[in-house]
Amino acid sequence: MLEGVSKTAILTLRARVDEQARPDRTFEDPLALSWWARVTWPPELDLWYGDAPQRALALRAADIDHIVRRYVAATGPLAVTELGSGFSTRQGRLADLPITAWHDVDLPPVAALRAEWGAGGVQLGASVLDLEAWMDRVAEAKGPHLFIAEGLLYYLPRAEVTRLLAALAERFPGSALLMDVVGNNDAAALRARAEAVGSPLAWTFTDDYDQVLEHFGLGPVPEFEPDRLMMDMLDRYWSRFDATMRSLIYFAMHQPLVWAGRSGMVLGRLGA
Ligand SMILES: C[S@@+](CC[C@H](N)C(=O)[O-])C[C@H]1O[C@@H](n2cnc3c(N)ncnc32)[C@H](O)[C@@H]1O
Repeated sequence: MLEGVSKTAILTLRARVDEQARPDRTFEDPLALSWWARVTWPPELDLWYGDAPQRALALRAADIDHIVRRYVAATGPLAVTELGSGFSTRQGRLADLPITAWHDVDLPPVAALRAEWGAGGVQLGASVLDLEAWMDRVAEAKGPHLFIAEGLLYYLPRAEVTRLLAALAERFPGSALLMDVVGNNDAAALRARAEAVGSPLAWTFTDDYDQVLEHFGLGPVPEFEPDRLMMDMLDRYWSRFDATMRSLIYFAMHQPLVWAGRSGMVLGRLGA
């Protein structure tokens, strides 16, 4: 049905669907369940999927929801755009928030399926790198804007990511970007999985995570600093980590070189 990186949208959808079956689930997502009935699972995704990826992907989705909730509470109504939205059903999970406009940008085959399946926001079928194809449309909505790039940017050429972030900063100064970053500690495992299913990573983050905002040209957002997001996430989902994972996290925290290679969520101010 879908090719290349777009297939991975089925992987993250499955993680959110399987989350529903857990007694300790982090969210309810009936729309994800109904969309799941419409997709065909590409068998090669078995090379990636399993308990640990399910937890990582579902917790990432839950964590982003939580960060958006906190951000809206701190800043007030805003317009949200999901870049590389895949089969994200976040708009439904956050339906109670004062979000004034919702846009989803993904490649045409994914956007067409979203539209066919009745996704709620404005569906823009284009590469996020084709700025003329979608940015004007998003800019019509009253800001401030929050752009969410979940599981997207490391599939795109690094130089193109720089160009995209610069364009966002120029067009939406003062708005914010929320993105996930893959650091050295997780790069090899993720690379292997992504390559196995035919969606190779273009880059991972190799600098010290303490410099992650500066690295991407983003400004800090008070109370949403990368380390604050990391500690909040660990605290909130600690019960989901088994003894081995907890030991690894403690180990990483006490070894500066390992800690510098962590992965995590980054919320940064555009044009700061
Ligand atoms: C790992 S999935 C993530 C989907 C969704 N954000 C989530 O977390 O469930 C990656 C998504 O990025 C989309 N994608 C890849 N390259 C893209 C591009 N150049 N422009 C827009 N979307 C792209 C794929 O089609 C796919 O839906």
